[in-house]
Amino acid sequence: MTESRDVCLDSYQPMFRENLLQNQVALISGGGSGIGFRITEVFMRHGCDAIIMGRKEQRLREAAARLSSATGRTCIAAPCDVRQSEMVDSALREALSKLGNRHVNILVNGAAGNFLCAADSLTPKGFRTVLDIDAVGSFILSRCVYDRCFSKNGGGVILNISATLYYKGDVLQAHAGAAKAAVDALTRHLAVEWGDRGVRVNSLSPGPIEDTEGFDKLGGKSPMAQRMLQAIPLARFGTRTDIANAAVFLVSPAASYVSGITMVVDGGAWMTVAVPMSHARKLMPSSKL
Ligand code: HXC
Ligand code: NAP
Repeated sequence: MTESRDVCLDSYQPMFRENLLQNQVALISGGGSGIGFRITEVFMRHGCDAIIMGRKEQRLREAAARLSSATGRTCIAAPCDVRQSEMVDSALREALSKLGNRHVNILVNGAAGNFLCAADSLTPKGFRTVLDIDAVGSFILSRCVYDRCFSKNGGGVILNISATLYYKGDVLQAHAGAAKAAVDALTRHLAVEWGDRGVRVNSLSPGPIEDTEGFDKLGGKSPMAQRMLQAIPLARFGTRTDIANAAVFLVSPAASYVSGITMVVDGGAWMTVAVPMSHARKLMPSSKL
């Protein structure tokens, strides 16, 4: 079913030259929903064609159709599970053939999974599942795009979508924090190893972004959302377009000497208090916190 939040913008005020990403192909995992959907839309509004990946085939195909129709560019749905390397490679191969055997120039690793769970209730399988999607999935897709495209085409750009959860050890998020810490480490390792092959690799860490599944899962719809707001120096939640605009900068030639960094786009929230324990107890009254 189409989720109402994943619609294209009625109007978009370009922050950059409109043809900034002209003739590029961007692959966005998680591009069928939420932040990834808006990143894909804003990239396409700057002139590139796109491939989006996710597991829910119908949602992905509907998203690709909406993105193509709103931007006039081509968006290919490439359904797959980023944890399965052979499935990812064959989805990529098929998508590239639909694009006339062009190469991917920009990869955004946005696919992720999350839920609230206290560490003393979390099973090894739950921990592993989130690590597998976020960290192993980012590695699998990076390797696949590197092998199939970047290594044959003089390089490219990788943008890993991360989170600030682990900076202060946020409660109920041991699995997601550990996964995103691994993602940020992967950013640095690949930036070093692949730099002289023309590959730039960076992370982008959103803060709480309204109107997303991640925000809802972390209590954005609960009465505690006001408490979260009070911890944000810029005094508002982020929007998906805030993240997309920062992403355009990081993948564009404007950032051609930027590699191995994590750009935090959170209104300054990571510098203030972490989620208070009292807040966490209200979000999960069944936990022993
Ligand atoms: C405790 C849970 C759980 C829950 C799943 N598990 N849900 N544990 N509380 N609510 C554990 C169980 O151990 C379960 O094993 C294991 O995870 C695997 O669950 P499955 O449902 O079989 O996995 P899967 O189908 O692969 O789904 C993955 C998922 C799901 C992560 C659990 O939620 C998903 O697909 N999410 C994608 C969308 C999403 O989460 N978007 C938000 C991203 S936001 P058992 O033994 O029970 O089967 C984000 C925000 C970061 O990342 C930071 C924000 C500031
Ligand atoms: P979202 O809409 O649920 O995005 C997650 C996407 O990942 C979905 O499109 C999902 O599609 C895809 N995905 C999940 N597991 C996958 C798998 N195994 N294989 C392929 N695709 C998979 O949530 P969001 O809130 O917009 O989050 C987007 C990104 O921003 C994530 O990396 C998240 O960690 C990060 N982030 C979000 C926030 C926030 O406030 N929302 C804050 C910090 C960081 P399918 O279900 O179809 O597979």
